[in-house]
Amino acid sequence: MSPDFPVAVDQRGAVAIWTIDRPDRMNALSRATIDALGALAREAQSNDSIRAIVITGAGDKAFCAGADLKERQGMPEHQVLALLDRYRSELGGIDRSTKPVAAAINGVALGGGLELALCCDLRVAAAHATLGLPEASLGIIPGAGATQRLPRIVGEGRAKEMILLSRRLTADESLAWGLVHRITPPGRSVVEDAIEWLAPIAEGAPIAQAAALEAIDRALSVSLEVGLELEKLSYIKTLVSEDRTEALAAFAEKRKARFRGR
Ligand code: COA
Repeated sequence: MSPDFPVAVDQRGAVAIWTIDRPDRMNALSRATIDALGALAREAQSNDSIRAIVITGAGDKAFCAGADLKERQGMPEHQVLALLDRYRSELGGIDRSTKPVAAAINGVALGGGLELALCCDLRVAAAHATLGLPEASLGIIPGAGATQRLPRIVGEGRAKEMILLSRRLTADESLAWGLVHRITPPGRSVVEDAIEWLAPIAEGAPIAQAAALEAIDRALSVSLEVGLELEKLSYIKTLVSEDRTEALAAFAEKRKARFRGR
């Protein structure tokens, strides 16, 4: 794997699979890794063959162990700040994706690794996965969005517990907290499991999925009244789509709909 582009790219049907390929560094987020993920997220938006995206890490030990602490060593403060901006723009591209993104958490997801998973819409974890934010124990705080995204997912109290206590959760605890949606049955590959689980998305109506993401992603940052208006605007995008007509025709003809994202 090229150190300049340390993410392996594959596609199964309509599901793109992006694998952070730095197992010797527990798939830590080097600057090149962040840039590669950002570039892939941008490219995927206009690639009609991609309906869903799975992000994972190479091997079975780590999804991603967070910031590359070796690269970070000796880095002057201004460069660290610039890196935080890149987290925001590049990993933010995953959060803003109009196509659903799932994290297949195949091992530890620590610090920026968990923050990457929080940028995803859905999270599937291997039974041996560990999720945590150790930043406070390192004298810093999460800098790639976890102080904002984590409370929206698990609630303020649990977010404070994870961050202030640097508490690491098992996969079972993560499921109980709503931090992951699903645990892969033992003996199965978490990526295979995620792809199978995502089938309704891969076969579904892309415009409706993008509209749902757009509405849901805004839900917690606006008032209910504004949110309901945004929902209507998103709904209108589906109303004028060929996919909606196709779904009605398929229902009448008792067949499976063939969605084309138009
Ligand atoms: N950045 C760069 N390299 C990392 C890394 C990181 N975040 N995490 C692990 N590595 C490297 C280790 O330095 C080691 O390489 P080396 O043998 O050349 O020194 C290799 O990956 C394997 O790590 P090791 O610690 O030996 O494996 P382990 O199975 O005992 O533990 C972790 C795995 C992930 C629990 C442990 O490495 C760890 O706690 N890493 C730091 C995680 C962290 O604090 N991230 C948040 C940063 S804000």
